[in-house]
Amino acid sequence: MASPSKRVIVIGGGLAGLACTIKLAEEGVAVDLFSMVPVKRSHSVCAQGGINACNEIARQQGYSEWEHFDETVLGGDFLADQPPVLEMTSWAPRIIDLLDRMGVPFNRTPEGKRDLRLFGGSLYKRTFFAGATTGQQLLYALDEQTRRRESEGLVNKYEFWEFLWPVIHEGQCVGIVAQDMRTMQIRTFRADAVVMATGGNGLVFGKSTMSVICTGGAVSRCYQAGARYGNPEMIQVHPTAIPGEDKCRLISESARGEGGRVWVPRTPRDTRPPNSIPEGERFYFLEERYPKYGNIVPRDIATREIFEVCQEGLGVGGGNMVYLDLRDEVKKRGREAILGKLEGILEIYEKFVGTDPLDEPMKIFPAVHYTMGGLWAGFTKDEKTGGLKRGAPNNMMTNVPGLYVMGEASFAYHGANRLGANSLLSCIFDGLFGATGIKNYITDVAAIAGADVPQATYDDYLKRETEKQNWLLHNDGDENPYLLWQEMGKWMTDNCTVVRHNDRLQNTLDRCQEWKQRYERVKLSDTGMWTNQNLSFTRALRDMLLMSEAVLKGALARNESRGAHYKPQFPERHDAAYLKTTIATYDPATNSAVIDYAPVDTSLVKPRPRTYGKKNVTSADKAGAANGPATAAPTPAAVSVGV
Ligand code: FUM
Repeated sequence: MASPSKRVIVIGGGLAGLACTIKLAEEGVAVDLFSMVPVKRSHSVCAQGGINACNEIARQQGYSEWEHFDETVLGGDFLADQPPVLEMTSWAPRIIDLLDRMGVPFNRTPEGKRDLRLFGGSLYKRTFFAGATTGQQLLYALDEQTRRRESEGLVNKYEFWEFLWPVIHEGQCVGIVAQDMRTMQIRTFRADAVVMATGGNGLVFGKSTMSVICTGGAVSRCYQAGARYGNPEMIQVHPTAIPGEDKCRLISESARGEGGRVWVPRTPRDTRPPNSIPEGERFYFLEERYPKYGNIVPRDIATREIFEVCQEGLGVGGGNMVYLDLRDEVKKRGREAILGKLEGILEIYEKFVGTDPLDEPMKIFPAVHYTMGGLWAGFTKDEKTGGLKRGAPNNMMTNVPGLYVMGEASFAYHGANRLGANSLLSCIFDGLFGATGIKNYITDVAAIAGADVPQATYDDYLKRETEKQNWLLHNDGDENPYLLWQEMGKWMTDNCTVVRHNDRLQNTLDRCQEWKQRYERVKLSDTGMWTNQNLSFTRALRDMLLMSEAVLKGALARNESRGAHYKPQFPERHDAAYLKTTIATYDPATNSAVIDYAPVDTSLVKPRPRTYGKKNVTSADKAGAANGPATAAPTPAAVSVGV
């Protein structure tokens, strides 16, 4: 047990933050848990499809924790350090058992066993799920455990508090500056270690499937304070979302895992309603091009294929949409069976689009979904197992001693592309596994205890944050922060998502320098000091601008195609030059990112080509004679994610 005087601050009330909080409390460490929203509304609540783990059914068919590991590093196009991935996949079955004991209502088979579904990047059913609201069920279960620890006095919750900056004393993180989002009071908090579990940065791209609090501001502040940022250019675009005016809404990969089929009409610009297009006139491009994996190819591949067919003019009505069709499954299994597994997402579709997806195919398009990059985190390899050394204090620690990172905020595990349903796993694994190392750090390694740091250090940080806020409140410029954000989001989405061209990346980077200058002229429309969200957003806009620059510089420098990062000019993966982690470091002197590289630990499996058995099939290859060739298809000018 750690001394009860030791305290750890955890920022973020999603799955990674809660798992870490619960485990720290179990180790006897007091935790102050900060969240901008009630923890039950953290973005983890939006996770839909499931959580991956090896299981007995798959094991009987030849699957194992090792296979799960191998699929994950292959899925990430070999850009992930392998020991952390192996440790995570080895823990996965135990994590599922733990969640079950906590009361997560996993779907069951008629025999009462936990049900499984297919998910992208695997030919085995190895995804556990609770309908299509898995994230919500997991979050609620961990929230209950956190409340239990709260009632024991080991956890203090600070909901509606925003992290502003890490307090760093003689190179060691010893607390934070935070703001009460209701009273707007700014305060400092002492700690022996700080954990960032604040999720991804979807808002850098304007609209995404992420919640609108996912600015990445907290991570960007740590980056500006000296923490290194790994693989900023690796951004996941999910193939199936509903584009919206305000944001995009995810339609889970589980729809395909449960048999949903993606198709477009074989005839370009076909305007017939989908229910009147006969089977023979539909181009099931994923099934035809990837006979082995079909609709469950990994996301980066499905997304690029959807882009390609839309660019060929085959999208619905010639536009930027494809069909996701569950009607065959309804015929085979009946409505009730499908509702039992997918109701959560089917309701979302009906609510936002207005048609019943079991009667008529859904119209979907890719949208920014996940941040594979994140704060760089260290680890100690266990040479005996190939995984991680349990309890090593540097596991999940950034380059700033005492500052840890977990979940989507971390760059670990997913390399250049994350496999669906590995995210919930990496969040919970990070929290549970990392907490032991944190306890050892605060007990045995930290050079100074938070309680012994001079008060002047905290006063100094408080003053700096108050001055920054005063500048924002009183700046009398002509820039509307929301319009500036929209402009950045559109440029980033158009030029730095699925297909990347160096000239367009450079143009966007030039724009980014202008945005940074224009930010100096931002004006708040609300300067009141009660729940001022305008202030919070505008502060985060600066963080997003600096992060967009790191994303662009990382993308520009990587002249190859790997996972989610695809450059037509450099269509192949180029291991000799780029099998390395991009490291962005913030340079305060120039207020910009400096790009460098670090080696990737590929000590367990050798990188190999990532083809998923692709065949070159065009719609014309199998088109019925009446449809004619698709080669005359007009090409839309540009395809934008989720617009
Ligand atoms: O498609 C989904 O259900 C998303 C899952 C994930 O991002 O892991």
